[in-house]
Amino acid sequence: MKASETAAEKTAAKKAPANKAETKAAEPKKTAAKKTAEKKTAEKKPAEKKPAAKKAPAKKAAPVIEETPAAPTAPVVEEAPAPEYHEPETPRRSICFIGSECYPFVKTGGLGDVMYALPKALVKQNCDVKVILPRYKSIPWEYQEKMIYRGAFHMDLCADGRSFYVGIMEYVWDGVVYDFIDNDEFFSYGNPYTNLIDDIPRYIYFGKAALAALNYMDWIPDVIHCHDWQAGLVPVFLRTQFANTAIGHAAVMLTIHNLRFQGIYNIPTIKYWSGLPDYVFNKDALKQGYEDANMLKGGLTYCNMITTVSGTYAGEIQTSFYGEKLDDHLRYHSGKLRGIVNGIDYDIWNTATDSRLGVNYDITNVLEKKKEAKRMLQEELGLEQDDHKFVIGLISRLTNQKGLDLVNAIIPQIMDEHTQIVILGTGDAEYEDSFRYYENAYKGNVCSNIMYDETRSHKIYAGADALLVPSLFEPCGLTQLIAMHYGTIPIVRETGGLKDTVEPYNVYTNWGNGFTFDNYDAGLLLDAINRAKTLYFTNRWCWDEMVQRDMDKDVSWDSSARQYKQLYLEMTPR
Ligand code: ADP
Ligand code: GLC
Repeated sequence: MKASETAAEKTAAKKAPANKAETKAAEPKKTAAKKTAEKKTAEKKPAEKKPAAKKAPAKKAAPVIEETPAAPTAPVVEEAPAPEYHEPETPRRSICFIGSECYPFVKTGGLGDVMYALPKALVKQNCDVKVILPRYKSIPWEYQEKMIYRGAFHMDLCADGRSFYVGIMEYVWDGVVYDFIDNDEFFSYGNPYTNLIDDIPRYIYFGKAALAALNYMDWIPDVIHCHDWQAGLVPVFLRTQFANTAIGHAAVMLTIHNLRFQGIYNIPTIKYWSGLPDYVFNKDALKQGYEDANMLKGGLTYCNMITTVSGTYAGEIQTSFYGEKLDDHLRYHSGKLRGIVNGIDYDIWNTATDSRLGVNYDITNVLEKKKEAKRMLQEELGLEQDDHKFVIGLISRLTNQKGLDLVNAIIPQIMDEHTQIVILGTGDAEYEDSFRYYENAYKGNVCSNIMYDETRSHKIYAGADALLVPSLFEPCGLTQLIAMHYGTIPIVRETGGLKDTVEPYNVYTNWGNGFTFDNYDAGLLLDAINRAKTLYFTNRWCWDEMVQRDMDKDVSWDSSARQYKQLYLEMTPR
């Protein structure tokens, strides 16, 4: 109650900025709609140029009308601009994203990309979107300095009633409102994830603080959209401690980006920090095994809708191989489980405007310019400069999820005088060390960049000929999408989102987007790489067609954002 007093006072004091922020979020709606229209035209242009054969006949029809000496008014009709296509607007919904990372503030992998790009895409789908994140110390100063203070209060958290400070710092950008939960005790570390001992209390606090902040700001969304285990307790808090508060009426969706991480710890610890009632620690909700509590599992039980990031992964996680011990729980809840594949942000990933590249290109000049991009990459990385070499890229967190055991096993067989490998990643020491070893063993033809470097990743996507993604499991995967969009052919294992987004190349029909293999086996990966090399060296014409086909493929967020919007509407019928 102490908390609400402070909240009331602060709300009164801060009403103006609050409204401002909300108006700001609403205003770009129009701009966003216009932008969508502009984008549509812009995006269509390259497509019109390329498959000219398809578009040309339509244009040829026009002069026929010109020639008809019909009524004198005819030219006026001709000159009238073609009616602009406007997507019919679905009813407006307000959505609050809650998650642990978001580009460009903090990113360790694809979750960060999605937390940035999906809200932006939803604004175009007539949504009012707010994103709640922790205010980590590592957020670059250029963003910190632009945040405005939105208010602060104290929140009861633990079973013994310990209360904690919750500050709210706000930043509005591209029609999306970002609210950062400020607390030095929990978020004073550089990186978002440290170890479970610290992470468990930190994200319990974060989940509850996010809901308390929404009540405090009096911003009650139609749908709360939580991401991964770090926000796993949000649905549980919502339906227990917050059930009789304003926010308690919101619907809640939980998206699984990676089932491997679940936020599991002993029951007494999670019970203490969350202050949640005993009855949620039963085997159908938080309890796992005999003595553990599982934050993600609790969220899956209490949310209205579960989504994951591809249709195939939605099926896979209901099997024991991919289910990470939650397969039975997910089968039980399968009625509310859906898969929607991720996209990529076309403003960030745009070969024609990407300022991180030494050379820009588009579908019309990719074949020439990509050679330049390859040369520049080779030069920057100290590789032999030769644009006839087949350059294979690998951009990845270095963990066993990513199929690196397979890669390690076959590097000696991949390497010949026509091939180079460029690796970019950080992670487990065993992989970092083995890739360093190979760099040394194949000096001038293997380059292992053991680092996290956004700019270098762009240069590899542009300069490589192929990108390896041989994952053991891959909920969606963004690197194969970015690669295709940059005219780089993916070589992937047929699992999760990789299976849903990369159509295997078929030599007989000369169709497909990349090279694939099914079982998790080093020999099959080698075979896929060899098939790619064969096409590259013996049938460049077909390879080049695939490069252009991949650049032309729609891997944007448009269609997926529409599907999310549809689910939000299903969850909030009026
Ligand atoms: P995951 O989320 O499992 O790591 P995704 O394929 O969904 O895999 O997303 C990975 C994202 O992180 C991509 O945007 C990729 O470019 C980026 N990335 C991964 N490793 C690095 C790195 N070392 N340097 C720069 N970007 C990286
Ligand atoms: C996870 C998955 C990855 C997915 C990303 C974004 O990190 O490992 O496959 O693309 O989340 O959803």
